[in-house]
Amino acid sequence: MSAPTRLVLVGAGGMGKAWLATILGNPDTELAGIVDLDLDAARKAAADAGVPDVPVGPDAVELARRTGADAVVNVTIPRAHHPVTTAALFAGLPVLGEKPVAENVAQGLSLVAAAEASGQLFVVSQSRRYNPHVFAFKEQAKALGELGTLSTEFYKAPHFGGFREEMEHVLLVDMAIHPFDTARFLLDAEPVSVYCEEYNPSWSWYAHDAAAAAVFEMTGGLRYVYHGSWCAPGAETSWNGSWRLSAATGTATWNGDDAPVLDTPDADVAAAPSADPGDGIAGSLATFVAAVGGGPVPMGEVHENVLSLVMVEAAVESAETGARVRVDDVLDRAYAQALADERRDDVRAVLESWTSVRDALTPAR
Ligand SMILES: NC(=O)c1ccc[n+]([C@@H]2O[C@H](COP(=O)([O-])OP(=O)(O)OC[C@H]3O[C@@H](n4cnc5c(N)ncnc54)[C@H](O)[C@@H]3O)[C@@H](O)[C@H]2O)c1
Repeated sequence: MSAPTRLVLVGAGGMGKAWLATILGNPDTELAGIVDLDLDAARKAAADAGVPDVPVGPDAVELARRTGADAVVNVTIPRAHHPVTTAALFAGLPVLGEKPVAENVAQGLSLVAAAEASGQLFVVSQSRRYNPHVFAFKEQAKALGELGTLSTEFYKAPHFGGFREEMEHVLLVDMAIHPFDTARFLLDAEPVSVYCEEYNPSWSWYAHDAAAAAVFEMTGGLRYVYHGSWCAPGAETSWNGSWRLSAATGTATWNGDDAPVLDTPDADVAAAPSADPGDGIAGSLATFVAAVGGGPVPMGEVHENVLSLVMVEAAVESAETGARVRVDDVLDRAYAQALADERRDDVRAVLESWTSVRDALTPAR
């Protein structure tokens, strides 16, 4: 029996509380401390979770050193992901961070380089991948062989109140990264280009566009088509969306909630049993902890994850310009921005060593 991994949780907001409960519920982890700029929020989260005496503080590295923690779970707002994670990595602490990897792709590239320069593990938790149905769907995709089109319909009507009803590109930025990331996983393919339109239905209660339609070309000539709305009352889809995968030998569909269904006229097409990845953030915490203990590198490791945020940024750029956007152009601009903004010489040296940003990000296939 190895000792539990001692974690500092950074960010005691809405999602931080979910992580707090998940850490406390994992027998292989121990909560070393809670960090938040708002110390009262950290103390209240600890008290509400039944651990009022857990140490709190405003700085992750300081609290990790004070408590002898092994790793950091970063559940701060996207703007804080880059500074909090960079500081932790260079303090020798592996990091599990909430999506998105950072506020923008340029900062995401800086974090890829920071992981390399520090030699530490940085994993982005894309919790919706941790779903046994997604893994079963992927086995069906493998069984279908030559793939053509994957599509997601996402129709919900939430009244969030607050910042979401006021922010620009709310659906693409705040939600669509989940299906975009799942699409990369299911297709085992990476984005090449995108054409995207955003719009706001006349009855929308959002200040800016809350609906979007995007067509991605993926590597291998595949297409991923996304259509979503956050102001679509009636016949709502699952929060995972509703999926269809069309292939030469048949079709697989997934309603987002139940087991996916394989429909093929070819009697030889059968999906292999799939592994159980665990459920949501509990699954991503379990694989992170196993990796910190010497286990395999989990999906979502930063090199692999950044292209999901690239899909969001490319879709937003297409919606703003009305043009089809090449993903390599988005990467080139982000790379130039990352070099211009980088404050650490060791991180800049890693960025400068890359001969191709895409090669630096795309895992060998
Ligand atoms: N996977 C999912 O389904 C899912 C769902 C919701 C949110 N999220 C993600 O979780 C993250 C947090 O979202 P949230 O809804 O909990 O936000 P939130 O605003 O409720 O909470 C964020 C907390 O971080 C704290 N904070 C900000 N900067 C900090 C810093 N530099 N150091 C320490 N603390 C800092 C804030 O004081 C606040 O308490 C975001 O990245 C969001 O995208 C993921």
